[in-house]
Amino acid sequence: MQIIRGATTIKKDEKNQIVYAVKDLLDEIFSLNNLKKEETIGIVFSLTTDIHSFHPAKAARVCGYDFAPLFACVEPDIVGGLPLCIRVMVMVEVSPSRLVKHVYLEDAKMLRADLSSIYNIALDGPAGSGKSTVAKILAKEYNILYLDTGAMYRACALKAVRENVAPQDSEGVKKLLEYLDVKVEYLDGAQHTYLDGEDVSDKIRANEVSMAASHISAHPCVRIKMVEMQRVIAKQMSCILDGRDIGSTVLPDAKFKFYLTADSAIRAKRRYDELLERGQNVDFDKLHAEIVQRDKQDSEREFSPLVCANDAIVIDTSEMSIDEVVAKIKSYIQQGI
Ligand code: DC
Repeated sequence: MQIIRGATTIKKDEKNQIVYAVKDLLDEIFSLNNLKKEETIGIVFSLTTDIHSFHPAKAARVCGYDFAPLFACVEPDIVGGLPLCIRVMVMVEVSPSRLVKHVYLEDAKMLRADLSSIYNIALDGPAGSGKSTVAKILAKEYNILYLDTGAMYRACALKAVRENVAPQDSEGVKKLLEYLDVKVEYLDGAQHTYLDGEDVSDKIRANEVSMAASHISAHPCVRIKMVEMQRVIAKQMSCILDGRDIGSTVLPDAKFKFYLTADSAIRAKRRYDELLERGQNVDFDKLHAEIVQRDKQDSEREFSPLVCANDAIVIDTSEMSIDEVVAKIKSYIQQGI
């Protein structure tokens, strides 16, 4: 079961206003989430003590939402609370992996500004700067999608490795692109990356794929294709995207932009620990040299390199814990929404 939240406000305590407010709120929740009647388990409203003229559960029934159990209760008065406010929880029987969208209308938008409209967070930086760990935590906290764009380039690289095409060979890569089939899907909130219909989410993490991804992502034809997919996803829902060129090229208008960086030896150590945990034994010095080499390749490529957007907030994570990085980013986001 999942719960979809929503809230709205009315201007005056009048029957008509309550009926229309409830209708707008439920209509928006159902259409935005593509909900079917039979997926609804129940709808619970709460209302502030200044609303007396009509019962929101009754309003829902009047508007055709009589297919689910309806209930309403009164909220305690809170000093400084939003007046004339109707909140709702729609309980639905849908897969836990489905990303549900909450709806905040009228003055209630200020209750959860982060949920009331589509916004994107760009998180750029070199390998091992902590982007993906931080992005996953933030996506969960804000109930938005995490799009790991590096995984898409890694899937392209895996294709080249499998087809014996050198990732630097621009002609070979161009041909590969004609029949390249890369997709991302979300299961239980986690991104799964598919290559030719196969879930390659783990295989793309192999160290040889990392280097190949750095080479293949330098080709403009590859980037154009991947960026197009990333923009389509980011347009549909609020997302946090991590990558190298999100704030500069993919989403130059992203509402929030952060650039994470850290000393290369520290980043190499993080990757080393991560690979060890995955059961991959690698030589630390070699890994460090590869990270330095990847940084150079990623930032020196001609087309859409790794770059810190002018308006991005730079965070050096060398001496910071993940919790500290998350808290810092959240403090900027809270100021901005
Ligand atoms: O973040 P990562 O290590 O999974 O990325 C793998 C490679 O893909 C990296 O060397 C650079 C490239 N990349 C890119 O060029 N642009 C992005 N938006 C994301 C990754």
